[in-house]
Amino acid sequence: MRIPENKVDEIYNAVDIVEVVQDYLPLKKRGSNYWALSPWGNEKTPSFAVSAAKGIYKDFSSGKGGNAINFLMEMEGYTYPEALKALAKKYGIEIEEAEESEEVKERRDRRQSLLIVNEFAAKWFHQQLLESDEGRKIGLSYFKERGILQTTVEQFQLGYAPDSWDALTGEAQKQQYQEEFLTELGLATRSEKNDKLYDRFRGRVMFPITNQVGKVVGFGGRVLTSEKQMAKYINSPESSIYHKSQVLYGLSHAKQHIRNEDLCILTEGYMDTIVLHQNGIQNVVASSGTALTQEQIRMIRRFTKNVLMIYDGDAAGVKAAMRGIDLLLQEGMNARVLVLPDNHDPDSYVTEHGSTAFQTIVKDGAQSFLDFKLNILQQDLSLSDPEQHAMIIRALASTLGHIPDNLQRELYVKHTAERMDISESLMAGAVGEAMKELARMHKREARYQGPRTQDAPPQEAEVKELKAFETLELARQEKELLRVLINHHDKNFDLKEAGEIEQVQLVDFFMDELEGLDFENTVYERLKQEVFEAYREGKSFKVRHYLSHEDDAITHLVTDLLTIEHTPSELWKSRGVNVPPLDANLSLAVQSAMYHYQRRKVKKLLEELREKMKEMTDENEDEFFEMLLYLNNLRKEVTEKLGIIVEG
Ligand code: UTP
Ligand code: MN
Repeated sequence: MRIPENKVDEIYNAVDIVEVVQDYLPLKKRGSNYWALSPWGNEKTPSFAVSAAKGIYKDFSSGKGGNAINFLMEMEGYTYPEALKALAKKYGIEIEEAEESEEVKERRDRRQSLLIVNEFAAKWFHQQLLESDEGRKIGLSYFKERGILQTTVEQFQLGYAPDSWDALTGEAQKQQYQEEFLTELGLATRSEKNDKLYDRFRGRVMFPITNQVGKVVGFGGRVLTSEKQMAKYINSPESSIYHKSQVLYGLSHAKQHIRNEDLCILTEGYMDTIVLHQNGIQNVVASSGTALTQEQIRMIRRFTKNVLMIYDGDAAGVKAAMRGIDLLLQEGMNARVLVLPDNHDPDSYVTEHGSTAFQTIVKDGAQSFLDFKLNILQQDLSLSDPEQHAMIIRALASTLGHIPDNLQRELYVKHTAERMDISESLMAGAVGEAMKELARMHKREARYQGPRTQDAPPQEAEVKELKAFETLELARQEKELLRVLINHHDKNFDLKEAGEIEQVQLVDFFMDELEGLDFENTVYERLKQEVFEAYREGKSFKVRHYLSHEDDAITHLVTDLLTIEHTPSELWKSRGVNVPPLDANLSLAVQSAMYHYQRRKVKKLLEELREKMKEMTDENEDEFFEMLLYLNNLRKEVTEKLGIIVEG
């Protein structure tokens, strides 16, 4: 359901962020803000701030922030409309269906239809399992054999796909579900040979895969025979409602438990997840055979920072665990690993030894990521051989290099140095090297992603360093400009031009001056474009639109731009220097920020042009010189303008 714009307004007007946060965290007033201990960190001094006046929160320990909606999205794992609905309920606002654009409606209807078809299929598979002869004899007895109880079958809506070419397809068509949805969802395929529509899942027990809020987005179907030529599992393909990298099996059942236990247990399989749940261990999800992704980790991070991975002790499992560790650390999570004895997986272990034994082994048998990695390395390498010892140290350093938090990393460095029997500084050096290598790798990746830098010619190391610095400086200035734009877009200020003083609106000034100048940072550029576009279309500027943006990066950026911070003047005042606040002389501040940015940007564009001129040919010669002339003029203009504002 879409919530009408006027209702959204009403909700926003009603919401008091302090009230909303207080449902979760005890807030204390200090100065103009409210503070609490971060719900996402383990801390002794509060770093979670709420500004009632601005309607936003900022968690300095994790960097998260936003408005009341974002807060609910973080805490509850809600989507944007779900958070709105929750707030509407809290403030007693009734919401009803709204008109919406055809295009939006179509896309939403399509997603809705796909969900409905999956819902139908899940119900039908479930019914086959419980009510059909074949389902009961084959499917249900299989689950029974594996110790699955009736309540678990219900809770996870387990099902059975009959061993028939068109049982589901026939029923779906009878009920007029469209073929295009059945095929997009991978429930049916049309044969090229005889043009018939076939069921894709046949003679398998079915595991519906749900998203975070419990909607069926796909299926896994397990064979019941042990014939080697058949794939053990057939899974739904990617579709517009199923993105494998963004789904964790069981999360809708597990999320509250993950928060309560402050731990997420990560298993490999559907069965593992289900059987642990049945045994009262409910903070469990599965990555379902795919390598753990950054998106999945971020989903977990909404509920806890602690992850325990349970992987098979086989080679593939170890490799997956190693990758998982680095990715988890990189996302600021605490990672531990448990390898179960005797080739057990969680399902077989808990079935054989019971849930108490499982709880115990989780508590006592889990290794820190470091010990795990060290143990694995020591299977092949020996600490008594100096060369192999060095290899082990480097391998550990490479993992530690992923930890973003300095303090935490330092502590691990110290610990590892002791274990490796080398000096702390040596270990720190190795980690430093690993971090440099990682940074180089990220830079390379970023270069291949950004179209603008893609064809940058290879540079000598020093030039590259300098360039990186310039780019950083530029991005800093870009951000400063955005801060001014977001906070003061509608203000007028005096602009002195050609000896005359003119009143201009800030956003107009920005649009003029930034014409043709793209921001280096792509997120900044996107925000800038969007603000300008909305302004051109005459839409009123609403900060809240950006605080609940579908693009997370924009939400974070805008929160940051609005955020509760020491203003420079306060900072300087504390150092005995008096700097007038931005508002006091907006004109000067805006122009100064703009022209300084332009100067640096033009300088960069000129350098890039000179670099490219090496490849000048007779044909494009004119273009190059035109551009050169244009940029040189621009530079002169900017220098003059800077001269004027500096003179005052
Ligand atoms: P497992 O082989 O460990 O399967 O694969 P399992 O879930 O423990 O099943 P049982 O106990 O033999 O019944 C782990 C996960 O990898 C994915 C599935 O998500 C499975 O749960 N997988 C495995 C596939 O997608 N396809 C396959 O062919 C095999
Ligand atoms: Mn298994």
